[in-house]
Amino acid sequence: MPIHQALFITSSPDYKLCPPSQKPEYAFIGRSNVGKSSLLNMLCGRRKLAKISSTPGKTRLINHFEINGSWYMVDLPGYGYAKLPKTEREKFHTMINGYLYNRPNLVNLFVLVDSRHAPHAIDLEFMRNMGLKKVPFSIVFTKTDKLKPQELEANLARYTAVLSEEWAELPPVFVTSATTRQGRDEILQYIDSLNHR
Ligand code: GTP
Ligand code: MG
Repeated sequence: MPIHQALFITSSPDYKLCPPSQKPEYAFIGRSNVGKSSLLNMLCGRRKLAKISSTPGKTRLINHFEINGSWYMVDLPGYGYAKLPKTEREKFHTMINGYLYNRPNLVNLFVLVDSRHAPHAIDLEFMRNMGLKKVPFSIVFTKTDKLKPQELEANLARYTAVLSEEWAELPPVFVTSATTRQGRDEILQYIDSLNHR
């Protein structure tokens, strides 16, 4: 699916203030600094659409981008950023969960995890909650350019083995790099197929 138009629409501090929920919507979530904003830019073929930073905690609001005039991509703040004061973390948590549990047009949530790391309790718990709340999600491994092919393969195998311990069926999995654009076609094709369902 070619992307011929990607427009920033608005940043919202609360799901109640998000744009009207008529268009299908796809959101990106994951721990701070995992590469959510970079992935969104890579998918759109734009370097500076969503704001990126090497310091965790860059994205602080619910950001809507309209794609090809017909659907939305949503860049969310990260979760689990340990350096934030507890009250701040709770504020983000409420904002993110409010959005995830109340947005009727959310078709799929992409849960990003860093391909370099072993499964993290906070990510596993997050996916468990999505399962309980019946929020449809897929897993996106990020930053694969930072690993050698064998290391990547071993990490993916380890990750899926851990997931298989608690999930009878694994969600769709995408393997990506914002640097090499690996996984771009696969994700866009997946979104396109869901848009035409
Ligand atoms: P928050 O908004 O703070 O939660 O972070 P985020 O998940 O949106 O991450 P962001 O896209 O801002 O990227 C964080 C850092 O990782 C930046 O320095 C990016 O350049 C870098 N980065 C993101 N994706 C990739 C990737 O695929 N490869 C490499 N090498 N670096 C990446
Ligand atoms: Mg971000």
